[in-house]
Formats: sequence, C-alpha cells, structure tokens
Amino acid sequence: MATFEQIKGFIFDLDGVIADTSVYHAQAWRQLAEKLGVTWTDDLADALKGVSRMDSLELILKAGGKEAAYTQAEKEVFATEKNTNYLNLLKGMDHSAILPGIAEFLTDLKANGYRLSLASASKNSPLVLEQLDLAQYFQARVDPTTLKKGKPDPEIFARGAEVLGLKPEECIGVEDAKAGVASINGAGETSVAIGDATILKAADIIFADTAQLTLANIKKAMA
Ligand code: BG6
Ligand code: MG
Repeated sequence: MATFEQIKGFIFDLDGVIADTSVYHAQAWRQLAEKLGVTWTDDLADALKGVSRMDSLELILKAGGKEAAYTQAEKEVFATEKNTNYLNLLKGMDHSAILPGIAEFLTDLKANGYRLSLASASKNSPLVLEQLDLAQYFQARVDPTTLKKGKPDPEIFARGAEVLGLKPEECIGVEDAKAGVASINGAGETSVAIGDATILKAADIIFADTAQLTLANIKKAMA
C-alpha cells in the first residue's frame, strides 16, 4: 500500500458511495427481472453493483437461465425500460440521498487540495451529481461510454487517475462494489471499500459505512 503522504487524489464511485442510488438501481432492475420471470435474490443484487447497464442485464438473464432467450434488439428495449424505471425513481431524489458524512468529506478533501475524479459506470452520473449539487467538487469524470471494458477491469480507475494527471500510486479509489474494488486494485491504486467486509475483503481499507470515511481514519489505516 502507498503511504498517506503519497496521496494527491481521490477517485470516487458514485452509486452507493456518494449517493444512496444503489437502492434505486436495484429496485428498477428487480421490476424488470420479475417481469421476465427471473427470481430476485440478495446475491444477484450484490453481483450487479458497479456493473454496466448491458452487463447487468446479461447477469440477470443468466441468473434466470434465459441468456439465449432474447435478441439483441429485445435486450436493448429491456435496458431502456430499466433506465426509464430508474429515472422515474430519481425524480423523487433530494439532498437526503447524499450518504452520511460525504458532503463533509468532499469539503475536507477540497480544502486540503486533493484532486477528485469520478469513476462511475453510470451514464446517469452527471444528472445525479447535478441534482445533489455535488458536481463542483470534481475536476474530472471518466465517461463510461469511452471504455473498452467495465468494472472489474482496471480501465475505469486507471483513467480516473490519468484525467487528474496523477500516477496510480498517488490515488485512492473509493468503492462499495466487489467489481469496483477489483478495478482499483488492478489499476495499482489504494482501495477503500464501503460496506460488508466479507464481500469486500480484497480492499486495502474497509469501512462499514460512509460516516467512517474521513481523512483521519484513512491516515490511521495507512500508517
Ligand atoms: C453503476 C451502478 O454505478 O452504474 C450499477 O452500481 C449500474 O447498478 C451502472 O447498472 C450503470 O448505470 P446506468 O445509469 O448507466 O444504467
Ligand atoms: Mg457503487
């Protein structure tokens, strides 16, 4: 692991780290999965975290043994339907969806001169950041439509450092998904995971929730 003093930038996941939007993604997918006759389980919900829209749909179809049941055109329609469900849920989102301690953490990072980028797989991330008035904190964002491979591939977090003009070892990546932690580790950055330690055990540092995400706690964990 890098030393705390080496760190110059933070690369953030969005859904489930900054905003409580993972629940909306899960709800929107569940609606579609049940319509297609696929049983929704907690394991399936966890496997979808951090995964792109089309890859999520493939995982859902596979879970229901329906991977060969639909044409590409039908899959596109399903993915659009899920996104419509999701956008409807977002309409009800206000500042209370900012996860505990995140506003304070972002303010503290800015005050201490750290550079911040966003490495979210979501095409809706600009909308979510704007709606929560958090866009001002981020100097750069990786556009997920430009990626060859999604999480767990390292590409998105590697690009998250590049867009800040930083080396991987100068960056901390923050994630709530197993696929995201794998991406951060593969990129050679320090991984901070938020959530269940049994699922996220590959991370360098694990906090149970976002309220623990402070510079002081990170410094202590890196000592
Ligand atoms: C990730 C979420 O951030 O973005 C996933 O964790 C989601 O649940 C993925 O599927 C893609 O999001 P979108 O908004 O482009 O469908
Ligand atoms: Mg996430």
